[in-house]
Amino acid sequence: MAYSEKVMDHFANPRNVGEIPDASGVGEVGNPKCGDIMRMYIKVDGDVITDVKFKTFGCGAAIATSSMATELIKGKKIEDALKLTNKAVMEALDGLPPVKVHCSVLAEQAIKAAVSDYYKKMGIDPSPLVGEIPECESCACDLH
Ligand code: FES
Repeated sequence: MAYSEKVMDHFANPRNVGEIPDASGVGEVGNPKCGDIMRMYIKVDGDVITDVKFKTFGCGAAIATSSMATELIKGKKIEDALKLTNKAVMEALDGLPPVKVHCSVLAEQAIKAAVSDYYKKMGIDPSPLVGEIPECESCACDLH
């Protein structure tokens, strides 16, 4: 299966690449199977994610899903960003080949990790709010 035009666009021209030096929260997640790493930076004002940037040391699908994920949560309330699933990111990209589904899990994990970091910095226990960060092993890809 070929990549969709949207995947190719977000891979070739990723949105929101970079770092936020004074980020409210930073989340770094890694895929144990392929070794790829994704780092997500969020800036929070009140309960809104006003800015988000990412750096992904990984495959094209991981870069495209990170890029789309940042577009989907920028300007959103934290509670809405936490509802973003890897499936929703994939749908927004018009799908991914089955062997690349696990790459999209990184994007969901990275957002949740960044929000958890933000809550911890605020002195708030993130677990009841953020819930479980899905493990790569629970995704539907056929790498494991
Ligand atoms: Fe590692 Fe895609 S192959 S995240």
